[in-house]
Amino acid sequence: MVYESAPRTVRIILLGEPGVGKTSLILSLVTEEFTEHVPAKAEEITIPADVTPEQVPTNIIDVCLSEQTLEQVAEEIEKAHVICIVFSVDKQETLNKVASYWLPFIRDNCPDDYRKPVILVGNKIDLIDYSVIDNIWDIAEEYPEVDRCIECSAKTLTNVSEMFYNAQKAVLHPIGPIYSIEDQE
Ligand code: GTP
Repeated sequence: MVYESAPRTVRIILLGEPGVGKTSLILSLVTEEFTEHVPAKAEEITIPADVTPEQVPTNIIDVCLSEQTLEQVAEEIEKAHVICIVFSVDKQETLNKVASYWLPFIRDNCPDDYRKPVILVGNKIDLIDYSVIDNIWDIAEEYPEVDRCIECSAKTLTNVSEMFYNAQKAVLHPIGPIYSIEDQE
């Protein structure tokens, strides 16, 4: 019997504190321009394979806590292949919440033996003139599912397509041990 192999797709979800720019990042990617007024939550977007660098159809899912329950967010995490936690580089409290809230929340909603890759996304770099990457090494050490970190700006379009490309790559070419393999006898 011949089985048709399932089509490869990458499902990317964007999480993070309100106002960090999740919806703006998605809309900047799609429209290639920054719009000041964006809806609270972007519709689910499918990018066709032929316009993605990895030639894989890619679904992008926005999360908005004022429109969704935590239960619905948890369901979206379960369906996703890769999770982008967005924080705002000019608001330390949004980075604090990455480790104190979002990474534990993701772990609570993923099976113990399978950790989905997480990308930490520092948005709004147009507002500062220094890098915050040094502040995230401790987080990455504590949470090995953190696969990559990237700084970007939805406003100036800096690193926006790179961010989504990195999310694709984290699924298709993982760098770190994202599977926590039990000791084998
Ligand atoms: P919620 O829907 O509340 O979860 O927010 P969100 O994370 O989707 O943020 P949203 O895209 O609505 O952006 C919040 C505010 O930040 C808006 O006023 C945006 O115009 C602004 N913003 C988003 N990205 C950037 C950026 O890269 N630079 C600057 N300067 N402002 C940005």
